[in-house]
Amino acid sequence: VAPGDFAGLRIVVSAGPTYEDLDPVRYLGNRSSGKMGFAIARAAARRGAEVVLVAGPVALPTPQGVTRVDVRSAAQLHAAVLAALPADAYVGAAAVADFTPRTVAAGKIKKSPEDAESRVLDLVRTDDVLATVARHALRPRLVVGFAAETDDVVGNARRKLEAKGIDLIAANRVGAAGAGFEGDDNELAVLWAGGERRIGPAPKAMVAEALLDVVRERMTA
Ligand code: PMT
Repeated sequence: VAPGDFAGLRIVVSAGPTYEDLDPVRYLGNRSSGKMGFAIARAAARRGAEVVLVAGPVALPTPQGVTRVDVRSAAQLHAAVLAALPADAYVGAAAVADFTPRTVAAGKIKKSPEDAESRVLDLVRTDDVLATVARHALRPRLVVGFAAETDDVVGNARRKLEAKGIDLIAANRVGAAGAGFEGDDNELAVLWAGGERRIGPAPKAMVAEALLDVVRERMTA
C-alpha cells in the first residue's frame, strides 16, 4: 500500500488498559500493554492521517506525528474520545473496563474483623465508548471495535459487531501465547456485515498495516 492513502483523514485511536481506582493505592486494571493500539496509530500517521491517540496507562513512547491524550479511567477515556470528534474513523483498541467501583474510598481501605476472610466489591457498569460513538451526532464514517475473546472468537465478535452498531470488528484470541495482550504478535479475524478477512499471526506492526488496509477499503465501500 502506498504511503499517503490516509492523507486528509482524521483518525481517533484508543489504546491500552483503563485503571479503575478503589482507593488511593489500589485499582482494577487489565493486561493491555497498548502495543496494538500504538501500532495502529503509528501506521495511520505514517500513511498520512491526522491521528489522535487516547492512551490508558502504558509505558510506550508516543509515535511520531501523533497527538497523544493520556487518560486513566474508562470515564476519562470516554470523555477524551468524544472530545476528539469529529473524525473520519474511530478505532477502539483500548481494553476499557466494563465495571468500575461504585465509590472510590478517600483513604486506604482497611482490613476489619468483619471482612477478615472475604470482601465483596460493589461495581457499576461503565458507558460503552464504541456504542456511544456509533450513535453520536458526530459519528465517524467508520467505527471500528476490537473483540478480546477466549472462546468462540468469531461468533462472539460478530455478536458484538451487531450489538454495538459498529462497522468493523477485529477479533483476537486472548489468554494464549502468540496473540492478544502484552506480546509483540497478534492474529485477527476482521469482520464486517457480509465479509471477513484473516490477518496474521504476525508482528503487531504488520497486523496494524493490514487492518488499516481493510479500514481504508471499508471507508470507500
Ligand atoms: O494492548 P496490547 O497488549 O497490545 O493488547 C491488544 C488488545 C488485546 C488489548 C487489543 O487487541 C484488543 O483486543 N482490544 C480490545 C480489548 C477489549 O476490551 O475487548 P472487549 O471484547 O472487552 O471489548 C470490545 C470492544 O468494546 C473494544 O473495542 C473496546 O474498546 C470496546 N469497549 C469496551 C467496554 C467499554 N466500556 N467501552 C468500549 O468502547
